[in-house]
Amino acid sequence: MSKTFSKWYDFFMSPLEKGTFKTIRKNLIQRAEGSVLEIGSGTGINFPYYKSVTKVTAIEPSQFMIEKSIKRKAISSVQIEVQKGSAEMLPYPDNSFDTVVVTLALCTIPDPKLALKEMARVCKPGGKILLFEHVKMSSPFLGTLQDWLTPFWKKICDGCCLNRDTVQLVIANDMKIIRKTSFFNGLFVELEIRK
Ligand SMILES: C[S@@+](CC[C@H](N)C(=O)[O-])C[C@H]1O[C@@H](n2cnc3c(N)ncnc32)[C@H](O)[C@@H]1O
Repeated sequence: MSKTFSKWYDFFMSPLEKGTFKTIRKNLIQRAEGSVLEIGSGTGINFPYYKSVTKVTAIEPSQFMIEKSIKRKAISSVQIEVQKGSAEMLPYPDNSFDTVVVTLALCTIPDPKLALKEMARVCKPGGKILLFEHVKMSSPFLGTLQDWLTPFWKKICDGCCLNRDTVQLVIANDMKIIRKTSFFNGLFVELEIRK
């Protein structure tokens, strides 16, 4: 993740974050329990929403993003440890976490299939994977528009794939979706997956 993108990320996201995203994140994160792993934690936008968990371990590959997250980490009411690393090779043993959280990061992670496999591996049996992502839309017209925009979008948004079919990747990975909510005409989706 480039320094410029990290610097401006919160600013460009702020119209959405002040509105619908705030409610979505709050509702999602309040379902996290026990020991939590957050993947691609970025500027730490989710950190203030963790309330009754024992600890959050956050993994993020970009040093610029890690630095931007320091302020939010400092004001969090729960213990948060941010580690540098990638979703495709999580440095944790099998069945380590009660909850795994990923928001708006599977679209950017270079190998989302492997990342999902790793998330399932480190999640304890019976644990939850909470996900909020933008996804490929089911409308043929809007889905094609996403395909068409993706090469340009990837360039301006630091590798983000606008047309990534994350729900399909989750299903193909044999993950059990127990709750699914769509927003903005199916552009965004919130999933709760049970291991
Ligand atoms: C669009 S930002 C989202 C940040 C934050 N999760 C949010 O909800 O706003 C995507 C994040 O995914 C991170 N990322 C990119 N590749 C990754 C990887 N291989 N493993 C984990 N995170 C990655 C980026 O560095 C960036 O912080």
